Amino acid sequence: MIHTDEKTVLNELETARRVAEGFVREGKVGDKAPGYHVVTFGCQQNEADSERLAGLAELMGYRHVDDVNEARLILVNTCAIREHAEKRVFSIVGEYKHIKNLHPDTVIGIGGCMVTQAHRAEKFKLSYPYVNFTFDTGSIHHVPTLVANALAGKKRSFVIGDEYAITEGLPTVRKTPHSAWLSVMYGCNNFCSYCIVPYVRGRERSRDPEDVLAEARELVKGGAKEITLLGQNVNSYGRDADFDCDIASLIRQICAIEGDFKLRFMTSHPKDVSDELIEVMAAEEKVAKHFHLPVQSGSDDVLRRMNRKYTVGHYLEIIDKLKNKVPDVSLTTDIIVGFPGETDEDFEGTMELLRRVGYDMIFSFIYSPRIGTPAAKMEGQIPPEVSGERFRRMTEFQDALSEERNRRFVGRHVRVLADEISKTNPGMLTGRGDMARPVHFAGDPALIGQFVELEITACGSYSLEGKII
Ligand code: SAH
Ligand code: SF4
Ligand code: F3S
Repeated sequence: MIHTDEKTVLNELETARRVAEGFVREGKVGDKAPGYHVVTFGCQQNEADSERLAGLAELMGYRHVDDVNEARLILVNTCAIREHAEKRVFSIVGEYKHIKNLHPDTVIGIGGCMVTQAHRAEKFKLSYPYVNFTFDTGSIHHVPTLVANALAGKKRSFVIGDEYAITEGLPTVRKTPHSAWLSVMYGCNNFCSYCIVPYVRGRERSRDPEDVLAEARELVKGGAKEITLLGQNVNSYGRDADFDCDIASLIRQICAIEGDFKLRFMTSHPKDVSDELIEVMAAEEKVAKHFHLPVQSGSDDVLRRMNRKYTVGHYLEIIDKLKNKVPDVSLTTDIIVGFPGETDEDFEGTMELLRRVGYDMIFSFIYSPRIGTPAAKMEGQIPPEVSGERFRRMTEFQDALSEERNRRFVGRHVRVLADEISKTNPGMLTGRGDMARPVHFAGDPALIGQFVELEITACGSYSLEGKII
């Protein structure tokens, strides 16, 4: 397995410390330290990467500011999964022009999946002259050098490297210490025909189990009550490596760490769901009884053209096994509506699948052509009115189904992790348990980060309500 060599990482960390020393010499410490602000788009993998960006920014002597206008270092971690995600990045970076005009010493760097595509890095170089640099998903550890160069007035940089390695030893500033991301592998080998991820995240590479376990132990010691193992294709963990440890065995070893915590993992690919993984979910008390298993479509024809490598029948077999072994498991999935060539019949197949499985929640997306992927060149691209109408029907149908699924919890006693103050009602807390949806309940904010026992009193399609017992 290719690791970024230790010396490179140490050099970068040294560069970061030198930047911090420069600020100290200028008397910029404490409240006067320059601010940094990290903006994150996309998936949990990006959230985890942003925690490393924050770690590096703090090592460089910057302090976190909530208001981007006060930041002298702005890092945007981008996503390329759909056109909408990329548009939002262009629009938000457009707003930074006036910050740079007011404060020319502001350093602006754009990283992540979007700028790991040459045409997007080029666009930032040519059309956004106030952006100092872009960095690809494999180059997070180079950010100290990029920032140091920008501060020294050196040339702007828009390089895309082609070596994806595992980089250990970067500092991390975690947003929510009680609920932690833990990346166990990076990249994807699957090349689903619609998806940009394999082109911008490189091939699958699994971290050594010892490194993962050491981080997990540290997290539990630091008070983490929920750990989510992350990978684009997390259940193929270990396949690429020379060590002998698969995802089921990794989960078992993490569960053996002493302490009261819940373990989650995402995202799993149906073709790689082993019987052992299902067993481990059934057997290990610490594993949350929630399985996210993206199906994408309920038509074999569409699945074949998506290059998903399974059939509806095979998928349903896994679901049946899961339901048998893990009674009452919460199931969620991802669906793409309007994939090229999707007929009314194909779409009805997907609706039928939703009915058959009974998901607690789905994430549905209208197909968005991505430059460089095979599906973008396929015949039979679906007009937006057609996919929009299918999307609307699916959402309506699933909302009713979700409410029905949530209702099974009403009257039950459940254990949830008090996660945060409710975003919709600041008088309430939001908690997470085995159910796919969040639970709102009245409680002291001091409970955040602790497990609480609730009685579920009501539910809707998107959330549940409970009271502390
Ligand atoms: N690795 C995960 C998640 C990938 S991205 C997996 O394999 O499931 C999350 C979801 O975005 C995908 O599951 C898919 O439903 C959706 N997605 C990916 N590419 C897309 C595209 N071009 N248009 C619309 N949705 C897309
Ligand atoms: Fe994309 Fe498919 Fe890989 Fe998921 S498994 S990241 S959908 S290519
Ligand atoms: Fe987006 Fe990259 Fe994640 S494309 S969904 S941020 S892997």
